Amino acid sequence: MPKKSITHLTPADLKGKRVLIRVDFNLPLDKKTGAISNDRRIRGALPTIKYLLDAGASVIAMSHLGRPGGDPATDAMLKMDNVAERFAELLGRPVKKAGDTVVGPAVTAAALAMKPGDVLMLENLRFDPREQKNDPEFAKAIAALGDVYVNDAFGTCQNDKDASMVAVPAAMAGKPRVLGFLVEKELNVIDGLMASPKRPLLGIMGGAKVSDKIAFINKLLEKVDHLLIGGKMTYTFMKAQGIDVGSTRVPDEEVEAARALLPYVGSKITLPIDSIAAKCDDLTTTQVVTGPIPAGFEGVDIGPKTRALYAEKIAVAGTVIWNGPVGWFEQPAFAEGTKAVAAAMAGSKAVTVVGGGETAEAVEKFGHDKAITHVSTGGGAFLAYVEGKDFQSLKQID
Ligand code: 3PG
Ligand code: MG
Repeated sequence: MPKKSITHLTPADLKGKRVLIRVDFNLPLDKKTGAISNDRRIRGALPTIKYLLDAGASVIAMSHLGRPGGDPATDAMLKMDNVAERFAELLGRPVKKAGDTVVGPAVTAAALAMKPGDVLMLENLRFDPREQKNDPEFAKAIAALGDVYVNDAFGTCQNDKDASMVAVPAAMAGKPRVLGFLVEKELNVIDGLMASPKRPLLGIMGGAKVSDKIAFINKLLEKVDHLLIGGKMTYTFMKAQGIDVGSTRVPDEEVEAARALLPYVGSKITLPIDSIAAKCDDLTTTQVVTGPIPAGFEGVDIGPKTRALYAEKIAVAGTVIWNGPVGWFEQPAFAEGTKAVAAAMAGSKAVTVVGGGETAEAVEKFGHDKAITHVSTGGGAFLAYVEGKDFQSLKQID
């Protein structure tokens, strides 16, 4: 069912109104310093925020950041201050960070004092344990801050128990509740991709865990003409086929998950034809292998023949959907496979879609994001939406 977006709001809905917008500013942070390592998710929400401000609204932005667990040292890194600061820089306007609690008298006072064009950022929603329990009282307190609700948090849309995604808009029934441009675009792209893709439709799947992605892979297999495998899961498939993977660590439950897909291997599923294997205790000693991985070595990337083969298939595809790096790309020596896939997608005339936090980061790191049709801001949300899961968050939108 088509959902209302912010373009359905009238000028009177926005002028002089306080708009409560759920964004996904759950940004990747440096583990040691807490510094923001990628701000794509902020950039993704800017068109919506600018639109609201230009229409004469004030904006209260709210997001979670990480998974705070009550450890003051780690949790201090998860305060929203740095994110609010980066948000202000990218927006080109001041952003006021609300108090240390998510809701409460100081936050309400700050919200009530806002003038058109003002932007307020709430503290990390997950600092309040009620956020992930869809708590109605918590939701009511947040809902009272705004006249309009906007969901522009695609990356979090699959979370059915997050109050800011579900209970807050539910508490705002009767007030306008709409999607922002980012969520609208993400949904439209994936809907189009799944309903009437330009063929051949090629899937590329990497990353480590088959078990996490089994529903996604099964859905892709229904739709795609061909699925190319890369990344750590390559070795899971090899082990399931009884091929030696040397010292590559592959948990048994992963092998079980891959075994269920073996009937497709060689027909719809293509596995790499060669790999880069690195010595476990000395990652600078590498070799290109076809077939089994030697003892003492682990598989770390697709090999040169596979790079060429995958590039050829990408070049003749009508649509390409990619999730999961095809090698250990954080290590520059093992990034060639992921680079090659990104470059082939960027150079292809196909409709190209990339989903998943790491994959999106890789594409951006290698400078190919602008030449790709759509780079999703969703990780789990991207997978879940492709799978066809029902999102409670979207049901709250008019
Ligand atoms: C994500 O990055 O996957 C979203 O921001 C949701 O975060 P979560 O997985 O901690 O719920
Ligand atoms: Mg997640």
